[in-house]
Amino acid sequence: MRIGIDAIAFSTSKYFLSLETLAQHRRVDYAKYCLGIGQTKMSVFPPNEDIVTIAVDAAQKVMLQTEDRDKIDLLIFATESAFDLSKSAGIYVHNFLGLRKDCRVFDLKQACYSAAAALQMAKSHVTANPDSKVFVIGSDTIKYSPGTSGEATQGGGAVAFIVSKNPRILEVESHFGVHTEDVMDFWRPIHLKEALFDGKLSAHNYLKSLDICVKIYLEKANRTISDIDHVCFHAPFGKMAQKANNHLFKCKSINETLVYNSIIGNSCSASLFICFISLLDNFSANLAGNRIGFYSYGSGSVAEFFSGIVAKNYQKMLRAENNRAMLSNRHEISFIEYELLCDGKLQDFHCYENMGNTVLHDITNNKRIYRSAT
Ligand code: CAA
Repeated sequence: MRIGIDAIAFSTSKYFLSLETLAQHRRVDYAKYCLGIGQTKMSVFPPNEDIVTIAVDAAQKVMLQTEDRDKIDLLIFATESAFDLSKSAGIYVHNFLGLRKDCRVFDLKQACYSAAAALQMAKSHVTANPDSKVFVIGSDTIKYSPGTSGEATQGGGAVAFIVSKNPRILEVESHFGVHTEDVMDFWRPIHLKEALFDGKLSAHNYLKSLDICVKIYLEKANRTISDIDHVCFHAPFGKMAQKANNHLFKCKSINETLVYNSIIGNSCSASLFICFISLLDNFSANLAGNRIGFYSYGSGSVAEFFSGIVAKNYQKMLRAENNRAMLSNRHEISFIEYELLCDGKLQDFHCYENMGNTVLHDITNNKRIYRSAT
C-alpha cells in the first residue's frame, strides 16, 4: 500500500527582522549572515502569535484540500517550544479544526527531529488502519540570547500535513537510517525561554549523524547516492544544509529547498518539511517520480534519513503563489521593537496582526485564551 503525504502547508509569523538591521546593530559584517550563514531575514513573534496560532493557520489550509475529514483519527503535534508541560498544544488545534472527538491527540518532543518521528508513527498507524488519516503538525519558535552567535539563526514556523494511503504528494518509502546519541549540543532547560547551545559541537554532530544515517539507509535499501534525485535537510540555517549537501551529495543542488528557510529562520521541527515545500514550489522541472531524500536532525540527539517518491500530478496540490504572497506580505519590524519583544516589554495582545485568523487573545490565571477572528 502506498502511504505518505497527501496535503501539506506551512505558516509563520506576520513579522520579521532583516538580518541587515541585526548586523548593523551587532556590528557584524552582513556578509557573515547572508553568505556565511545563509540567512537574510528571521521571523519574530508578537505576543498574540505562538506555536498554536501558526499551527492552526497551516492546518486550516490543509483542511481546505482534505476530503473525508472524519477519517482523521490521530493528530500528532511535534514541538520543542511547548509552553505547558502538561496539556498538549495539539488539543487547541484539534478544537479549532473541529475534528471528531474520538481522535487521539498528543505532543511529541525530540528537538527538531520530532515531526519526522511523527511522520513515521503516522505511517505505521495508516498501515494498521488503511482508512485512517493522520494530521501531523510541527510547530516551533526558537530564541537565543541577544548578542549570541545563534541570534541570527532564530526564527519559527509551522508545517501541517495529512498522512494517508494513496497520497497525492509523496509516497514515503519503507527504508530509513536512524542514529541516537547522548550529546549536549543544544538544549533548553524548562525555566529558560532561550535555547543554550554548543554551536561547533552541534554542527559536528549534525554531519557525523548524517554519515551514519545515510550509510544505514543505503545498506538497508540496497541503493547508492545516485539513486536519490534531491535531498531536503533540516536547516537550522541555510549554510548548514549546504555543508551537509557538499559533504555527501556533492552533485545535487539544494538551492530550491532553502528559499523559504532563508527568510523565516530556523523553524525546528517544521524546518525539514518547509524545505520540502520550498523544493516543490521552486523547482522548475517536473519532480513526479523523483526520489527525495530527507535528513532530520534533532539535537541531543536523534537523526534520521529516509526517502519518498513524488506523486504524479503533485502540482495540483501546491500553493506556491499563496506561499510567496504570505511571505512577501509580512511586516518588517525595527530593531528597537525587536529588542522590546525579546525583553517581553511589549505584551499588548491586540496591537499586532496575525498570519491566520486564530489569535492568542489573552493569558488569564495562567490559562491561554485563543480566539478565532472569523
Ligand atoms: N563574510 C562571509 N562569510 C563570513 C564572514 C564574512 N564577513 N564572516 C564569517 N563568515 C563565515 C565563516 O567563515 C563561517 O563559514 P564556515 O562555517 O563555512 O567556515 C560562517 O560565516 C559562520 O561563521 P562562524 O563559524 O565564525 O560563526 P559563529 O561562531 O558566530 O556561529 C553558528 C555560527 C555556530 C552556526 C551559530 O550560529 C550557532 O551556534 N547557531 C546555533 C546552533 C545551530 O544552529 N547548530 C546547527 C546544528 S544543530 C541543529 O541543527 C539543531 C537545531 O536546529 C538547533
